[in-house]
Amino acid sequence: MPKITISVQRSAPAPDGKPHLERHEVEVSDKASILDALFALQRGPCPDLAFRFSCRVGMCGSCAMVVNGREQLTCSTLVNTVGDKLRVEPLRNLPVTRDLAVDLKPFFAAYQRVLPQFIPRDDLDANDFYPIPQDSKEWQALGHQPQCIDCGACYSACTLVTLHPRYAGPMALHRALNLIVDPRDKARAERLQLVAGEAGAFRCHTLGNCRDVCPRGISPTHSIERLKRLAVFEVFRQILSRVFRG
Ligand code: FES
Repeated sequence: MPKITISVQRSAPAPDGKPHLERHEVEVSDKASILDALFALQRGPCPDLAFRFSCRVGMCGSCAMVVNGREQLTCSTLVNTVGDKLRVEPLRNLPVTRDLAVDLKPFFAAYQRVLPQFIPRDDLDANDFYPIPQDSKEWQALGHQPQCIDCGACYSACTLVTLHPRYAGPMALHRALNLIVDPRDKARAERLQLVAGEAGAFRCHTLGNCRDVCPRGISPTHSIERLKRLAVFEVFRQILSRVFRG
């Protein structure tokens, strides 16, 4: 089996009390994922290495880490696609709980700030289904993108989150857009107001880091651009409606 060199961030106190990189060599199979390499470390030289995972098939999002400087789902990324020298670090912009595991509270707190729950229109029966046909105008307006798995990769890669911790970030704004353009939801105006504030869409500088690292191929950058346009249209709509009412 091929040998790889893997450096992992450990939070066990170094002499200076800061997290440090620990380097080891492990044997992994040709088809090993980065998560498999972390298991090999746990079986060998680092039995107490902390990291998160759950489904191991790229569905739950819990195994996202920074590998050689880039956010990845470690269960779905093969070692041989990255190279035989790996540097694995925890997600950025989030407090580290231990080693490679982060505390996702700030990430989900940002999510909560954009009113992420679906609020059905009053005229819809809550016990019924209201599918949107895929050949309809409403479906096109949704601009369908794959389902987000809340892995936090986009939040970690976003430079604006690093600079402005109150910024809602890519995943929360993407979620807000999905609900704002959904004709079955009634909180469009309220949500638009929330995301148009200074911690919302206009904070984004369209760097595209979130789009580049999303393991699902979602483009939060595109969603945020749409949000900006919708927020501007909404202001014009309100001004015009005041003028014509007056
Ligand atoms: Fe679920 Fe990797 S363990 S996405």
